[in-house]
Amino acid sequence: MLNNTEEGFATKAIHAGQDPQQWTHGSVVPPLIMSTTFQKDGPAQHRGYNYARRGNPSRTYLQTCLAKLEGGKHCFVFPSGMGTVTGLMTLLKAGEHVVCGTDVYGGTNRFFRECMPNQNIAVTFADACNTRDFMKAVKPNTKMIWIESPTNPLLRLADIREISQQIKKVRPEIYVAVDNTFATCYFQKPLDLGADIVMYSLTKFMNGHSDVIMGAAIMRRDDIAKTIQFTQNAMGIIPSPFDCSLVLRSLKTLEVRMQQHSKNGLAVAKFLETHPLVTKVVHPFLESHPQHELALKQMSGHSGMVAFYHKGDSDKFLKSIKVITLADSLGGCESLAGLPSVSSHAMMTEEERNKLGINDQLIRLSIGLETEQDLIADLDQALKSSM
Ligand SMILES: Cc1ncc(COP(=O)(O)O)c(C=O)c1O
Repeated sequence: MLNNTEEGFATKAIHAGQDPQQWTHGSVVPPLIMSTTFQKDGPAQHRGYNYARRGNPSRTYLQTCLAKLEGGKHCFVFPSGMGTVTGLMTLLKAGEHVVCGTDVYGGTNRFFRECMPNQNIAVTFADACNTRDFMKAVKPNTKMIWIESPTNPLLRLADIREISQQIKKVRPEIYVAVDNTFATCYFQKPLDLGADIVMYSLTKFMNGHSDVIMGAAIMRRDDIAKTIQFTQNAMGIIPSPFDCSLVLRSLKTLEVRMQQHSKNGLAVAKFLETHPLVTKVVHPFLESHPQHELALKQMSGHSGMVAFYHKGDSDKFLKSIKVITLADSLGGCESLAGLPSVSSHAMMTEEERNKLGINDQLIRLSIGLETEQDLIADLDQALKSSM
């Protein structure tokens, strides 16, 4: 640790929580500790760990690093992004109410729509990209605001600072939670913008190698952390130490990966914008994006997510891509393409999808780390084949 200076993002990603002085053998890579239980010095005397559901060193290394990268104080990891949403809902009691953005990830939308009513927690969906409309949905029993920005798949932005400030002014007890999966902590810091909780599907860019399903919740507030720590242990929603080690390894390259995702993604978006077979491209760092100004204010860059509408047949397009893979998910080294109307957003009603513009001409790309020219050539040939 450097004295009296704030370390840079990459330094934190590579070293936070991983000082080799912590263990006697000096291993530079943190050890993977699989043990489910830990020797005690007396019946009620342990050395920081007693049973691995409650705490495990490999999990601690990851949680420490994630909290530091996010500018948070506490982090809790869960076996998936959706497991994290489940864990966070223990902050709410029966009879309370949540306001959720309309175009959040399909799984989150379904969770709020179908699982929360069973707990007697009501949900109102509102347009988080329009702060005034969103605030109008707040009721006397509202306890949580759920924002996703940029949204999946249309990359619409919520003004996190404005929403947090307006909520805190009138109802400081309401938790503001932000799903930061698409931006990552490299490009956007919701806690600095006033949110109480940042949530991730670490499965995506944060792990970035398409080989772990995991989620995380990060916060500064001790009261929220106390509940979530209890939940993680009492409900037993924990990821394996092996998976924690894999994600910790991946964070070491988060900065360079995100820089390359961003560069490739923008190059693809600019190429598509000039393509005669493409009708519209959505990317927050294109000047044509309706919230471009907000993107520049709130994010220091954008990941590899690009969405576009085209003139051809989507089935033919997706069967013609060669470098890019037709698969669900996002955020890995490999570029992926999909049709949200039949995959990530299939669980929404057709009416909801139409209102948002999620139709069969909309393709979602997760641009990976391949050579830029190969990605562009692949998209060009697939667009031609789709006609
Ligand atoms: C924005 C967003 N949040 C949450 C999730 C859920 O994460 P997981 O699949 O890790 O449960 C996803 C999954 O695609 C997502 O895209």
